[in-house]
Order: sequence, then C-alpha cells, then structure tokens
Amino acid sequence: MTVESAIRVDETRPGPVSAVTLHVCVTCGRSDGEAETRGARLHAAASGAVAAAGDEGWLAVRPVECLSVCKRPTTVALAAPGKWTYVYGDIDPAEDLADLIEAARRYAGAPDGIVPWRERPARIRGRAVARIPPLPAPDGARP
Ligand code: FES
Repeated sequence: MTVESAIRVDETRPGPVSAVTLHVCVTCGRSDGEAETRGARLHAAASGAVAAAGDEGWLAVRPVECLSVCKRPTTVALAAPGKWTYVYGDIDPAEDLADLIEAARRYAGAPDGIVPWRERPARIRGRAVARIPPLPAPDGARP
C-alpha cells in the first residue's frame, strides 16, 4: 500500500463535532544518515492527507519538537479545547497514517475526547502513552 492510498479518509463516516489538533513530534526518530526524521515524514504525510481530504476545517496538523516520549517514536498528541488530550507513541509514518487520521476523526466526534478502547482504530489502539485531563473552562466550570 502506498502512502497516497493509505491516507484516504472515509467520507461516509459521521463528521466531527469540534476542531482537533494533531501534534506531531518532528524530532522523533532521528537516524544517522537520514535527511529527515520519522516524525518529519509523519508530519508531512499527515498534513498532505488532511489537505487532500479537505479536512483542514476540523483537523489541524501541527509540528512540535519533542513530547518527552522519545523512546517511542514517532510520538503524537490529539488535543482539543474541553477534551482529554491523548498521547500516542510508536506511530509508523507509512503504516499507521490512515488509522491515525481515523483516530483523530473519532476523537473529534467524542464530546470529552474519550474514545473507548475497542472503538479506536486497530493500529492505534494499544499505543496510548498518556491521557491528560482538559483544563477547566475560564469561568471555572469543568468541561
Ligand atoms: S523527540 Fe519525539 S518525543 Fe522526544
């Protein structure tokens, strides 16, 4: 399967209900002799997939330098206002991209960001490193 064929998002799935940011660690997976890191490749592929699918309105792909999970490249985080943030490791830029974007879609559709384990895409399911609770709203109310 090529990267181009792996990045297609199923347009028949229910749409997201809120904007999500996919943070991609672009310093992950640096190898001697390679021009770019695994993280940089994943960021480029994810950005391209989102643009190709016209998903920029709900999913932003942002580069970040180190999420402090350096032993499990490539590391990413899904975040959105009022939702739990999920950090995932061991993401393969070529093999896991389609499931990563599907995970973002399901995360977007979950009001609190919590997607039950069984409902996470198969290649993402066992790769959660951490989840971080949402910040309280400015008025002090819990999301
Ligand atoms: S270099 Fe990617 S998490 Fe540290």
